[in-house]
Amino acid sequence: MNQSLNVTPAMPTDALPAIAPSLCVEHLCLQLAGRDILSDISFTLPETGIISLVGPSGAGKSTLLRCLNRLHEQWQGSITLADQNIQHDDADALRRKIGLIGQKPAVFPCSIGDNLVFGLNRQQRKQTTSAQIQTALMQAALWTEVEQRLHEPAAHLSLGQQQRLCLARALILKPSILLLDEPTSALDPRSRDIIEQSMLSLSQSMPLLWVSHDLEQAQRISSHIIFICDGKLIEQADADSFFRHPKRIESREFLRWSVCDC
Ligand SMILES: Nc1ncnc2c1ncn2[C@@H]1O[C@H](COP(=O)(O)OP(=O)(O)OP(=O)(O)O)[C@@H](O)[C@H]1O
Ligand SMILES: [Mg+2]
Repeated sequence: MNQSLNVTPAMPTDALPAIAPSLCVEHLCLQLAGRDILSDISFTLPETGIISLVGPSGAGKSTLLRCLNRLHEQWQGSITLADQNIQHDDADALRRKIGLIGQKPAVFPCSIGDNLVFGLNRQQRKQTTSAQIQTALMQAALWTEVEQRLHEPAAHLSLGQQQRLCLARALILKPSILLLDEPTSALDPRSRDIIEQSMLSLSQSMPLLWVSHDLEQAQRISSHIIFICDGKLIEQADADSFFRHPKRIESREFLRWSVCDC
């Protein structure tokens, strides 16, 4: 893992949550519209680090994240957080613990500032300080662009800014686990580097499951790799092993940018 990025946003260490409860997926299967989308997926997230979820387009990466956040409910198998079935938790409570930043940013039709505190209850909103808002926006590499615009509609933001607002909105809830679906795909290199650095800091105390098509990025930031293809988990390994010595032929083909025929 290369942690030599040189952009360092100011981030108070009290923004770091406690060590995360473990998320364990066993024999996860999902059918949508009569088709097998996920087949017998099993893994346990490490307690810390960035775990890149890689695989060809249509492999099921976004669908897997959506299952973990209960946006899909009709799966079979088991998903547990700290040994508790995630379906036994209240869905909103679960989504505060397992934050999902989706592939397409979903901002609400209200101001930037209101979007940011949308997931907090009334009591929490009252207690939220401007320093906490600033920290979340800095972690998401958005502060300097919106500090004078918090009352403007979020819809006025560019796509990349909306994506970062969604990240800040998730961070302010202090989740235990973050699911990130191509969070830097619409960003310029500088914003991407700030987010990578910020997420690397967060990943010292919680796991981040990060979907990326950018294998250079995955190599740069990941501690572990999960490779899925056609809804099946093909290989999971620490990042160095996966990139230097992939065990499966499908992984080697994927890394060579070949068509994966599994
Ligand atoms: N609601 C749905 N109904 C039916 N099929 C779906 C639904 N959502 C996703 N799929 C199918 O599931 C498969 C996996 O989709 P998914 O979006 O998870 O892929 P992905 O790996 O995230 O791809 P990409 O890298 O392009 O984002 C695709 O074949 C997709 O068409
Ligand atoms: Mg996707």
